[in-house]
Amino acid sequence: MSEHYRAFSFLCPTRLEFGVGAVQKTGGLARELGLSSVLLVSGSGPTSASEGYRSLVASLSDAGIAVDTYAAVTPDPDASQVRDCARLLTSGGHNAVVAYGGGSPMDCAKSAALCAANGKDILDFLYGKAAPGTPALPIVAVPTTAGTGSELSSAAVTTDRQAGKKLGYSHPSFFPRLAIVDPEVQASMPPAVTSATGMDALTHAVESFLSLGANPASDAINLACVRLIAGNLPKACRNGADLDARSGMALAAAMAGAAFSNTGLGMVHGFAHPVGALHGVAHGLANAVILPYVLAALRPATADRMAHLEAFFGPGPLHSSVAALNRELGVPSGLASLGIAEGQLEAIAADARTYRMRPRSPRAFTDDELTTLLHAAWAGDMAAAERV
Ligand SMILES: [Fe+2]
Repeated sequence: MSEHYRAFSFLCPTRLEFGVGAVQKTGGLARELGLSSVLLVSGSGPTSASEGYRSLVASLSDAGIAVDTYAAVTPDPDASQVRDCARLLTSGGHNAVVAYGGGSPMDCAKSAALCAANGKDILDFLYGKAAPGTPALPIVAVPTTAGTGSELSSAAVTTDRQAGKKLGYSHPSFFPRLAIVDPEVQASMPPAVTSATGMDALTHAVESFLSLGANPASDAINLACVRLIAGNLPKACRNGADLDARSGMALAAAMAGAAFSNTGLGMVHGFAHPVGALHGVAHGLANAVILPYVLAALRPATADRMAHLEAFFGPGPLHSSVAALNRELGVPSGLASLGIAEGQLEAIAADARTYRMRPRSPRAFTDDELTTLLHAAWAGDMAAAERV
């Protein structure tokens, strides 16, 4: 049967409001959704002193929406933060969450919105002890980074500190009702955050495109995303005030979220989650370091698909182009440079073997192949990754 007639489904119910100054529309659009009292969730850093944050609060207040705040989300939020946030949602009688920040506040807000609606603990959902009977409270997402795509995705990641695990969870009601993507809000990101989060977005688009779950709709989105990122990420890192480059990255990151929600991801994320959970490495940086090695090992199985992506970079195989992009952005060439010892790799490999999206990988790596690949990514040995 022709490729075009293969059955698939594609879901993204989020209203995306894109553009410079879009943050000022948040209150009016939230009002249209019937929201009257919200919990504004943001990071514990200097976010709440930013101009974007002030614009957001002013916009919500001007629309007559009551705003309570939870501004204590740390990088890689854990179950206790989700609990605190859910408790505030319930005790305040709020009918929605508004997340302002990167993936951490957005994911924490999503998980809390689901827990508050169901009166359950996030760990019950993460470990399959309970299934949500009620959708999450409505979610409004205002991303300040161009990476996670949580603003347009059905996924949220929570860290279980006791178990040393980062666990992803997907639910249709995790798609925000409203995503406010305003490139100006992202212009103050420092270069290191721009590059790490941008490489997370690239990893989403590439893993989604190569996923066994890929379909014609996700393909169209992912090709656009990779083109935008290849053209704009180095520019956004060199000059953060370049609003064209920021716009390209903001769009690519958001749209890749919609794509991977429908396709799943792959083993770059399978490795990056334990690297983050066990060693505190920022998610985007972990993905950036690992991506070229996994691509090298996937190439024989996916050369035809990869050729579509290679067209957006210079000549040569995709893994070489991504490694060159990493060098340009100052990303280290191996996990050893991130302070991870060789003796710590087995714990990472053990977690990666259980990654929930492992079955979506376009190559069914054996456990031993995954271990060999991880060692190659640790040592910065591209030739070893090509031989896996
Ligand atoms: Fe990611």
